[in-house]
Formats: sequence, C-alpha cells, structure tokens
Amino acid sequence: MLPTLDARLAAAAELVRPGEPVADIGCDHGKLTAVLAASGKYPKVIGADLRPGPLAKAEQTLEHAGCKDRAELRLGDGLSVLTENEVGSIVLAGVSAQTTWEILEKAPWVFTVGGPRIIMIPATRHDALRRWLWEHGFSFAADRPVQAAGRWYAVMAAEYTGRVYAPTFAECLFGSTGEWPGGKGYADWQKAKLPRMRLGVPDGSALAQEIDSLLAGLPSQAASRPALPKGEPLAK
Ligand SMILES: C[S@@+](CC[C@H](N)C(=O)[O-])C[C@H]1O[C@@H](n2cnc3c(N)ncnc32)[C@H](O)[C@@H]1O
Repeated sequence: MLPTLDARLAAAAELVRPGEPVADIGCDHGKLTAVLAASGKYPKVIGADLRPGPLAKAEQTLEHAGCKDRAELRLGDGLSVLTENEVGSIVLAGVSAQTTWEILEKAPWVFTVGGPRIIMIPATRHDALRRWLWEHGFSFAADRPVQAAGRWYAVMAAEYTGRVYAPTFAECLFGSTGEWPGGKGYADWQKAKLPRMRLGVPDGSALAQEIDSLLAGLPSQAASRPALPKGEPLAK
C-alpha cells in the first residue's frame, strides 16, 4: 500500500522537477521516496540516510508500497551518496536549518548555475536558512507555507543562480510565503516568535529596530526594496 504523505512532504513532492532523477536525503521512514518511486515520473529515485535503522524502515516502506525495484537506497552522510549531475532535484526534509546548510556546504557541486533544485523543509530556524541561501547565491523558486500536525512549516525550493542577496530580517522571517494561501497563518506563527527573539538583541541595534517595528505592526523595510530574486518558475 502506498503511504500517505503529510502536507509538508506532499508539498515537497509537487516541487520536484519532473522527468529528472531525484534524491530524498534523510529519507528516514521512506514515505516520500516510495511515493516518488511509485509515481513513475522520475527516471531514478534515490532514498538516503545517515543511519542504517532509518534505511531499513525505508526498505520496508518500499516493499509495502510494491515499488522496491523502482528506488535505490543508499547509506551515507548528506550528498556524499550522490555524484555531480546525478539528480535534478534533492529533497532535504525534516533536518535543522544548520544541518541543511552544512550538508550543502560539503557538496561544492550544488553551487553551480544549472545545478540541482534543492527542496528543503527545515525543522528549525526558517529565517536562518533563508538568509544562508540568499547570502550564498541561491534564489527561491518557491517558499510555500504548509500546516502539518498543528505546526507551520515552510517548504522551500531553491536553485543556485550565483546572485548574492543581502536580505532584511523581515524577508528572512517570511520569505515569499505571503504569496501562497496560508501566508497569513504562517506570518502570525513567525511573528509569535519575535518577543523571544528580541530578548537576545541589544537595544538600539538595527535588528532591534526591525523586530520592534514588526512587533508594532509597522511596515517592514522590505516593502521599499526591490522584488526578491527568483529562481526558475515552477514546473506545472
Ligand atoms: C526527522 S527525520 C526526517 C524524515 C523525513 N525526511 C521527513 O521529513 O519526514 C531526519 C532524518 O535525517 C537523517 N539525517 C540527519 N542528518 C543526516 C545527514 N547528514 N545525512 C543523511 N541523513 C541525515 C536522520 O537519520 C533522520 O532519519
């Protein structure tokens, strides 16, 4: 039986480039790997994990879904299980923002124009991951807010363009989630974290001013800046 994806992973699946190989890194239970494999839309589907336990679970999921022969499972750290140009999309879902960028930093070949689309669902610090991506030359093809199990997630698809962008704090906090249904709910969820974030910020600093404006409901600096850099339009 094909597993059911939660709203996060279902949104991630929609962002995978059709017709190209795909890797689900940190596949754990293997549900996304199985759904991608069973869809028949991709010439190769790879599920990978750092640890053998999750990979054994993924193998069972593929077996139950009847698509064990349509996916390859690989054991290893991050993108070390892949070769350059092997896949068109890489999914990194459910790991922290820091783990996400550390995995990318260890694979210099992702920093290539025309390289893979990276689809991410950070488990923590959405703002920090957006900042890292912009500051390292990635542009967003999508930044979609999704609610699952009572929490808000951001499902991000980014591509390396080489255009380095210095974002404001508000841009890091919300990205372009406001363009999607659910944007308001996501923004409220993110704003609820501000009082706690403000605690560690020195009074009078530019960041303190920006957080205080957001808390006061004033328009952010982002409103007067040019549009955010975009990646390739989404394949429909
Ligand atoms: C919380 S699970 C997420 C599972 C699934 N992707 C999801 O979003 O539902 C995180 C998985 O990432 C794996 N992981 C953590 N660091 C990794 C790394 N550097 N390389 C590959 N897998 C990693 C863990 O072993 C774990 O199975």
